[in-house]
This record gives sequence, structure tokens and C-alpha cells, in this order.
Amino acid sequence: MRIIDLHIDPTIELLLTRRSVKPLTMIGPGPSDDELETILRVASRVPDHGKLAPWRFLIFKGEARTEFGKLLRERFSEIEPMANEDRLALEASRFLRAPVVVGVVSRVVPSQKAPEWEQLLSAGACCQNLLVAATALGYASNWLTEWYAYDDVISGALGLADNERMAGFIYLGSPSVPKDERERPALADICAEWSPR
Ligand SMILES: Cc1cc2nc3c(=O)[nH]c(=O)nc-3n(C[C@H](O)[C@H](O)[C@H](O)COP(=O)(O)O)c2cc1C
Repeated sequence: MRIIDLHIDPTIELLLTRRSVKPLTMIGPGPSDDELETILRVASRVPDHGKLAPWRFLIFKGEARTEFGKLLRERFSEIEPMANEDRLALEASRFLRAPVVVGVVSRVVPSQKAPEWEQLLSAGACCQNLLVAATALGYASNWLTEWYAYDDVISGALGLADNERMAGFIYLGSPSVPKDERERPALADICAEWSPR
């Protein structure tokens, strides 16, 4: 039997300590182009029943984050006509919270093999791999959806087709504060050995 010290194995250690970082505490730099390419390669290397690649990635860097913010502001003022200037400014600055944001688009394609459910799960795996790869490279990351992942007008502006929807926006930057921890479910509450009734 192979014996490994779980807390010395670097992959296990990373997975046991990975933690989301609040985008408002993220600072620069974000991943370089080469690092981002590595992160995206990891993100696209996920289980995918039928090899459908039922996902794609939208990358927001630099000025594009400001431009996207203008759309968010405009759309939010339509949805919430009473929104005050502070709130509109917050909407405009959503993507400025991190140097890089990767939108993970779930793209469900007709398949005899892989039902929609499995294709959606595969997109979720992309999101998780993005977080893990970013953490491995020393970056802060967070998987958020917020209202704009579910808004038809924003989806149109993002160029989503009818079979596409946002699985999430992954914010990537550098950490500025030490990692905290949050409560995790006790394994005893979520695991059970199956046995026949
Ligand atoms: C699909 C999905 C969407 C999420 N969207 C939001 C969101 O819109 N706003 C938010 O505050 N947290 C959201 N979260 C939760 C954050 O990712 C949260 O910080 C994270 O679950 C903390 O756990 P961790 O430290 O284990 O990553 C979302 C999580 C998932 C899986």
C-alpha cells in the first residue's frame, strides 16, 4: 500500500487549504498572460462526457472591465430606476475589483450520450479547476455569479447563444490579507456507507 502523509503531499495540502478571497480585498497583479493560459488549460481539462467541451471562457482584462462596468451600470439603472449614484457606481466597478475576471460559459449541446445535467456539471468542474490552478500559482480567486449572470440583456451583451448561460465569473488577483477559514460540513453529516435496505 502506498502511504502518503496527507499534509505533506502538496496537492492535498492545496486542496485542503484553498479558500475564496473577497474580490474587494484583491489587489494586483493578476496572472500574467502565460499564467492565465496555464490556468485556462487546467480549466479546460475536466471530465466531459462525450468530449463535447460544453463550456467556453470569456476573459476580461484592462479596459474591457471598465467597458463591461458601463453596461452593468446602464442595465442596473433600467432594472432599478430608483438606484442612487453610490449603487450605480458600485455596479460600474464590479469587474474592477480584480485584475482579471474569467467568465465561464456553460454551453449545452444536443447529445445522445451526455444529458444536460452532466454538461452543466462539467462547466462547474471548469470553475473549480480555475480556482485550484489560480491558488496553485499563488493567486487569490473567487467564483461569483451575482445578478448579472442571470440577466438576459447582459447575457446578450456577452454574446451568449440560446444554449448558453453563465456558470460563473472567476475573479483573479493577488491576496492583500491573510486567508481566513470558514466552517465546513462535518463528514459525518454528509457521508454514509450505503447498504441495502
Ligand atoms: C455557482 C456559485 C455561485 C456563487 N455566487 C456567489 C455570489 O454571487 N455572491 C457571493 O457572495 N458568493 C457567491 N458564491 C460563493 C463564493 O464562491 C464563496 O466565497 C465561496 O463559496 C466560499 O467558499 P470557499 O472558500 O470554499 O471557496 C458562489 C458560489 C458558487 C459555487
